[in-house]
Amino acid sequence: MAVTIKSEPEIARMREAGRLLAIMHEELEKEIKPGVSTWEIDRKGEEIIRGFGCVPNFLNYNGYPASICVSVNDEVVHGIPSKKRILKEGDIVSLDCGLIYDGYHSDAARTWVVGDTSEENKKLIEVTKQSFFEGIKYAKDGNHLHDISAAIENYVNGFGYGIVRDLTGHGIGRHLHEDPAIPNYKPIGKGILLKKGMTLAIEPMITLGTWRVKWMDDGWTVKTADGKCAAHYENTILITDGEPEILTLRNA
Ligand code: MF3
Ligand code: CO
Repeated sequence: MAVTIKSEPEIARMREAGRLLAIMHEELEKEIKPGVSTWEIDRKGEEIIRGFGCVPNFLNYNGYPASICVSVNDEVVHGIPSKKRILKEGDIVSLDCGLIYDGYHSDAARTWVVGDTSEENKKLIEVTKQSFFEGIKYAKDGNHLHDISAAIENYVNGFGYGIVRDLTGHGIGRHLHEDPAIPNYKPIGKGILLKKGMTLAIEPMITLGTWRVKWMDDGWTVKTADGKCAAHYENTILITDGEPEILTLRNA
């Protein structure tokens, strides 16, 4: 899927897809409490998306069976919601959500705490979020893609955390996943030249221990290899000739 430059009418749709997704995350945060199942969060999530008159983009994507991904503790991403998975005090839970508005996709993830949790977990969540903001300082027309990757990696390395390498961010637009892939570590080479009108989903996945991950038998859930906690933070952004626009955050 090629790297696409969005026209003004397309950007207007991406903005609306992003604005609605930001609201969805604000609504879902209120649902996070001990005793709630990850299935209930997915039900609420799909209800919100349909209520907007939008379509869930994750549902049936390569056979994915739910509308959002709910990943708890050592689950890094793509946790499948389940009635049997009940959130408990001290858990950390990543909600990865997306929707389609008038043919255009948005994608964003947040990691929340259930009740209260360890200082170690809180710091992991904070650093993961901040690594996104460190990365997007370089998300400007004329810079190279891997400037973003390097900034995320340099920041995260300062804390000794693991950076998941098997999954990356991505371009987004008419499709959930478009080129380019956006690693959260600096690969060889500069990467593509960033241009005004590109829309990108930047999503650091950071761990307390090893960066190595394993896939569960359900074919989706990705867990840390050592069983330590992971956090995920993602927004869909627009490249401009100045500061990037964060489409999936309100009051950004
Ligand atoms: N936000 C996720 C990503 O970019 C999308 C999950 S795809 C799904 O990888 F199929 F798992 F829903
Ligand atoms: Co994504």
